[in-house]
Amino acid sequence: MQALYQFQTADHIVAGRNSLQTVGEHLHLTGVDVKSVLIITQPSIKSLGFVDALVSQLAANGVKADVNTSILPEPTVENIEQVFANMAGESYDALIGLGGGSVLDTTKILSVLTTNDNSIRELLGTDLVKKPGIPTILIPTTSGTGAEVTPNAIVTLPDEELKVGIVSKHMLPKVVFIDPMLTLGLPKPITAATGMDAFTHSLESFISNKANPISDMFALESIRLISASIVEAYQNGSSVEAREKMLFGSMYGGMALTGAGTAAVHALAYPLGGKFKIAHGVANSMLLPHVMEFNMDAIEDRLYQVAEPMGIQVQGMTSAQAAVKVVERIVEWTKILEIPQDLSSFGVQQQDVPELAISASKVTRLLNNNPKAVSLQDMEMIYRKLLT
Ligand SMILES: NC(=O)c1ccc[n+]([C@@H]2O[C@H](COP(=O)([O-])OP(=O)(O)OC[C@H]3O[C@@H](n4cnc5c(N)ncnc54)[C@H](O)[C@@H]3O)[C@@H](O)[C@H]2O)c1
Ligand SMILES: [Fe+2]
Repeated sequence: MQALYQFQTADHIVAGRNSLQTVGEHLHLTGVDVKSVLIITQPSIKSLGFVDALVSQLAANGVKADVNTSILPEPTVENIEQVFANMAGESYDALIGLGGGSVLDTTKILSVLTTNDNSIRELLGTDLVKKPGIPTILIPTTSGTGAEVTPNAIVTLPDEELKVGIVSKHMLPKVVFIDPMLTLGLPKPITAATGMDAFTHSLESFISNKANPISDMFALESIRLISASIVEAYQNGSSVEAREKMLFGSMYGGMALTGAGTAAVHALAYPLGGKFKIAHGVANSMLLPHVMEFNMDAIEDRLYQVAEPMGIQVQGMTSAQAAVKVVERIVEWTKILEIPQDLSSFGVQQQDVPELAISASKVTRLLNNNPKAVSLQDMEMIYRKLLT
């Protein structure tokens, strides 16, 4: 029998400029009578005024909203457990995550901690969450992880110096608001890193061993949107058009990876985040061209297929030439977006490389998706390319 493909995402998506202003009137989409919520966010997002506006809007709809801003970027298990402990004694009808991937992932985890009698560590892995969480409303403010539409949440394990995922359909949100206005003030380095993370999701999904017609559709549209807008969003952050394309591209990237999974770029990035605190998007964009070069002989045709959506003129080119142009375009972007290219600027030294490779080799969930097997020696070689 031909392979079967499955796809599941958020229950409802409300998308458009200023859609944040309609959260109150869409609460019924959660399927429960919402009278009290906890908004999970971070100080830098609160300072932009969105949280206060949301609290007032909810109050006008008769909903009491508490706010917790203590989520750390790329949170550790302990950070999330502390936030959960602070929720004790309160009963919320729904959780609202307003932020980047760190906030969205935390919100998903808090939702299932509330209903399952498990610690976070017991849930690490795939399909280990037994019961649905309390309803969540996810509102991304970066473009981004696409975490608003994925069943994944990533946590940092400081003792193992690694980042690990929980994957469960029970963490999919009830409602998502896609509002590009929230991303207009994203600082340049965050625009660059999170934008390249989104692109990496789509490209890795497109070359994944698990790529399929459903994930391909989202991956290609995401690649098209991000390629058309990433430089503009970086250089002219107040362009609503560019920000909107980036946010849709990021959401479609999340859908692509839900269907096909990311691969070796993400696997090699996790130890860089876990041990050296390199931001997720920065680690991915540093690794992306090198991992694509490593994969090249297995993915030439797939890269040829993304060249046109990336705006590359392929007329008269062989697929091999077009594939090389794709990697060159990615390198060009990392230069324009001023993404660091040297791991030593983050304190990584040659002697750290074997341990980084061993850590990355444990991320089999993602390495299994890579079109080529990646040995420890291969991983060391890729890390060393960033240590010139
Ligand atoms: N669940 C998934 O499917 C998935 C996919 C990819 C990555 N991730 C995870 O998501 C996390 C990274 O998320 P991220 O890249 O969105 O970064 P982030 O959430 O860590 O945010 C980065 C910084 O930007 C700030 N910020 C966010 N929105 C802002 C705005 N609109 N204006 C100003 N500042 C803003 C945040 O406060 C934070 O300091 C990592 O832990 C990564 O592993 C999850
Ligand atoms: Fe990512």
